[in-house]
Amino acid sequence: MFEFEDNYEVCNCKKVTLGNLKDAILNNNASTLSDIQEMTTAGTDCRHCMFPEGDFGKIKKKIYCKDILKELKKD
Ligand code: FES
Repeated sequence: MFEFEDNYEVCNCKKVTLGNLKDAILNNNASTLSDIQEMTTAGTDCRHCMFPEGDFGKIKKKIYCKDILKELKKD
């Protein structure tokens, strides 16, 4: 589904991986970005990893929490 491994670090500030995010969404019913922030702490520092519009980093992220949420909540 994603071209990244589960150990890919989506949130660099808080060291939250794609696997951590999948677990929060699929196994613990995180359904909003705030749920994700609460459960994993992803996106609670610089917030650049949340969605592209909020990415003010010099080097842009390759994948965002919002996309992961959207992808996994599709069905
Ligand atoms: S990279 Fe996620 S809060 Fe900074």
